[in-house]
Amino acid sequence: MKARRIVALLSQKGGVGKTTVTMQLAAGLTGRGYRVAIGDLDPQESASRWAASADPSSPFPAPVGSLRGGQEDIARSLRRAGMASADLILLDCPPSIEHGHTLAALELADVVLLPVVPSPTDLWSTRAAERLVVATMARRPALRGALLPNRMQRTALAGDVLEVLREFTLPVLDAVLAQRNAYAQSAVTGGSVYGLGRAAEAAREEVERLVSAVVDLTGVKK
Ligand SMILES: Nc1ncnc2c1ncn2[C@@H]1O[C@H](COP(=O)(O)OP(=O)(O)O)[C@@H](O)[C@H]1O
Ligand SMILES: [Mg+2]
Repeated sequence: MKARRIVALLSQKGGVGKTTVTMQLAAGLTGRGYRVAIGDLDPQESASRWAASADPSSPFPAPVGSLRGGQEDIARSLRRAGMASADLILLDCPPSIEHGHTLAALELADVVLLPVVPSPTDLWSTRAAERLVVATMARRPALRGALLPNRMQRTALAGDVLEVLREFTLPVLDAVLAQRNAYAQSAVTGGSVYGLGRAAEAAREEVERLVSAVVDLTGVKK
């Protein structure tokens, strides 16, 4: 496959921000001149619906394709959709580590990001997802993985959970997305925090930092 790097967004459960991170990351990377394509692997098609909500006068900046089937089918669809010529492909996974699409994405990926909401219950499901990624890394040492704190709040509990996360096997990415309306709002407008004006400035700064961290992790250079 010609795509230079594939990044999979993966988690054991829904609601941690896989789709939100996928879309903001796609917008941020595109803004830096990378050619980005999004593979929507979730049967709920949130990423596709997100992009479809955009006003035709300002379409979502990256193409989104629905991909189905096993690893070979997905790899073939990526080639057929012309996605393989992108610098970066972001794969938005279904909310389960048992789902075939998640396992296929994991095999195809160069980098896996695990968004995690810093709450005690989310730690347990993150452990399970992490085990799967670490086991895959044992077979494919080139695979890189990182935890991405999302919906971070400035509470003592969130801080404590973040400390626990730092003891996980995978590194915690040097980028955090806070709990912000701008993230939810950009789903409604079918865009990203880059299109929300001054009110979303703090969110944009977070996404910029995330983009830099992902560029470093993938090693993709323009
Ligand atoms: N950092 C954030 N701040 C505020 N709301 C968020 C944030 N990240 C995600 N959300 C909201 O949480 C919900 C679940 O996010 P989503 O990206 O759909 O998760 P997933 O794809 O993992 O199921 C959505 O309503 C989304 O708008
Ligand atoms: Mg989703």
